Amino acid sequence: MAILISPTPRAGAISAAAMLSTWLDAGELAVLGVATGSSPSSLYEELVRGGHPFLSELTVFALDEYLGLPPGHSESYRSVINREIAIPFHLDQSRVHVPGEGAPEAYEAAIVEHFGVDVQLLGIGSNGHIGFNEPGSRFDSRTRQVALAESTRVANARFFNSLGEVPTHAVTQGIGTILDARRLLVLAFGATKASAVAAALEGPLTEDLPASALRDHSDVTWILDTAAAERLSPAALQVDFERSSHPRTVGGAS
Ligand code: F6R
Repeated sequence: MAILISPTPRAGAISAAAMLSTWLDAGELAVLGVATGSSPSSLYEELVRGGHPFLSELTVFALDEYLGLPPGHSESYRSVINREIAIPFHLDQSRVHVPGEGAPEAYEAAIVEHFGVDVQLLGIGSNGHIGFNEPGSRFDSRTRQVALAESTRVANARFFNSLGEVPTHAVTQGIGTILDARRLLVLAFGATKASAVAAALEGPLTEDLPASALRDHSDVTWILDTAAAERLSPAALQVDFERSSHPRTVGGAS
């Protein structure tokens, strides 16, 4: 596991884009698992700014999608992915997969048909969710319908006109599905994520904190800003909270 602490979210996005570009150059990234929300949006901008020639050859699988929004709603994750990824990356629509548009089993099968996800991008909820796997989700869960935690609906109300408009349910890749990806890149910025980040990296492995499951993965990089990292212990970083743009390897974690 590696932890990269960047001075700002934008610097974190630039570092993440550089990592993805390296993997694209090396032929190690053809299938990208994409997250929506605030955390990865600057990363997508940086990738487009970099103009990597292979961007349009990516196949993308979304983590999750709301249920119950009218077709074409601007905040459906299909719409967000079109706006932030498919159009700017010049992706053919056949390369863009979003759950909830068919059976969950068919979504899992489509991932397998593409030989799995090479790099899965993740944000983290302030309650520790990944995808829409809310606290209590099993670590071996697969793509399925879920109810959103009230705190998630409140957090995401900023994208809607009112809390009442935020869907109550969603379809999400399961934690087991996420852990099947060959590499994980987790982005967390801001003080509202600090407790969840510390619990995920240093607390118990527990279904109460879904992101703690990421410690079971053999290739995960956390990209944090200083605010999101502020509750990590010096031991976790193996440094005395020195701010650094170099990745820190957390000893003992796999
Ligand atoms: C979005 C997703 C969620 C978000 C998380 C953080 O596709 O799966 O887990 O990554 O809620 O959201 P932001 O980045 O908006 O703080």
